[in-house]
Amino acid sequence: MLKGKKILLGITGSIAAYKVISLARELVKKGADVRVVMTPSALSFVTPLTLATITKNPVHSAYIADELTGEWSNHVELGKWADLMVIAPLSANTLAKLVTGECDNLLLAVVLSLSCPLVVAPAMDLDMSDHWTTVGNLKILKDKGVNVLDFDEGELASGLVGKGRMKEPEYILEIVDEFFDLKSNLKGKKLLITAGPTYEAIDPVRFIGNHSLGKMGFAIAAEAVERGAEVVLISGPTQLETPSNLERINITSAAEMFKAVEEHYDSCDSLIMSAAVADYRPAVVAENKLKKEKDSLQSIQMEPTQDILLNCGKNKKRQVLIGFALETENELENAKKKLSNKNLDLLVLNSLRDEGAGFGTDTNRVTFVFPDRTQQNDLKTKHDVAKDILDELEKLV
Ligand code: CTP
Repeated sequence: MLKGKKILLGITGSIAAYKVISLARELVKKGADVRVVMTPSALSFVTPLTLATITKNPVHSAYIADELTGEWSNHVELGKWADLMVIAPLSANTLAKLVTGECDNLLLAVVLSLSCPLVVAPAMDLDMSDHWTTVGNLKILKDKGVNVLDFDEGELASGLVGKGRMKEPEYILEIVDEFFDLKSNLKGKKLLITAGPTYEAIDPVRFIGNHSLGKMGFAIAAEAVERGAEVVLISGPTQLETPSNLERINITSAAEMFKAVEEHYDSCDSLIMSAAVADYRPAVVAENKLKKEKDSLQSIQMEPTQDILLNCGKNKKRQVLIGFALETENELENAKKKLSNKNLDLLVLNSLRDEGAGFGTDTNRVTFVFPDRTQQNDLKTKHDVAKDILDELEKLV
C-alpha cells in the first residue's frame, strides 16, 4: 500500500517520541521510504541511531550535518522530497512555532519549505493541552489545512489522567494509509498506456524500427498501478520487465498496436500514447528473405501507417488523451499543432536537443503543452516525470 511513498517523519521533544519508533518501523514494513527530522529536544527522548537503523536513512536534526566538512542538511530538498509529512509527537513548543512561522531548527525550516500535506499528532500534558494558546494554535493549523489529530485521553507523564496523549502509532498509520488510498482519483480508472517502438517488417528477417526502449511508458504504467488505476499496457518489442498488477499486451507492428488500442479504447478513461509508432511501413513485405543479389538494393516502397492517436482523438468521448512528441526543431510550434490536430488534452514534448532527454536514458526533460498553456519542467528521472504526468491526469479525469 505504501510502496514507494516518501514520508517525512518529524519528531519533537515529548515522551511520546518513544512510540514513534514503532510507527517508523511499520511505515518501512509497508514499503514507505521514510526520512526522519528531529528537533534538538527530541534527541533527549530517542536516538537518531535507532531511527536511522530502522529507516535505513540518515536522520536529520541540525542545519549543519558535519561541522568539519560544512555539509548541511538541505531543508528545501527535504520539504520538496516528501509526499506526506507527519509530525508525531507535536509538542506545544513546536506547535506555537509552526503558527508563528519561526524556524530556529531544521524541522521548522522543513515545514516552511514543505510542498506536501502535513499531519500532526500533538502530545502534551493535561493543562497544556487545555491552555487557550494550544487550543487557538491547533485551530489555526486546522484552518490552514493541516490534518490535526485529536488528543487521546488517559494517563499522562505527570501522573494526571485526562486529555493530552498522542494518538497511538496504529491510529496514525491508518491515517497515513487512508491519505494515500484516498489521494488518487485514478483509483479504479482504466488507463490504456502504449510504450516502446514498433517494428515494420521488410521481410521475415528484417524490419524498420526506432530507438525507443519503452522506459517512459513502463514508468507511467508502474506509477499508475501504484495509484490504484487498472492498467492495460500495450508494448512494442522491448526487454523491459512487466510491472506488477497490470495487463500487458505485446505487439510488434503499428497495425497490431492500432488493433489492440481499438479493442480497449471505448472502455478506457484515458489513453496515454507514449509509444514511438512508425509513421510508415514497407508497402509490401517480402515473403522470403531478400537475397543479396545486386550491387545496390532497390528502394523499399513505403506506405503510411494509421495514426492511432489521431483516430482516437476523432472518436473521443469521455477519454482524456495524452500524446507524446519528440521534436528536433520548432518544438513548441509543432507540439501545439499536434495537440490540436489530434484533439489531445495534454501533449508531452521532448526535445532531442535537451541533454538527458530522449531514447534509452533514465532521465527526461519534458514540456507539458495544454490547449491553453505550456509548462516547462526540469530534467528529472523518468519515474518522476511519470509522476508529474499522472498528477496532471488526476486533474484532467
Ligand atoms: N502516434 C500514433 N500513431 C502513429 C504515429 C504516432 O498514435 N502512427 C502518436 C505517438 O504515440 C505520439 C503522437 O502520436 O503520442 C505523436 O507522434 P509523432 O510521431 O511525433 O507525430 P506525428 O503526428 O507522426 O508527426 P511527425 O512524425 O511528422 O513529427
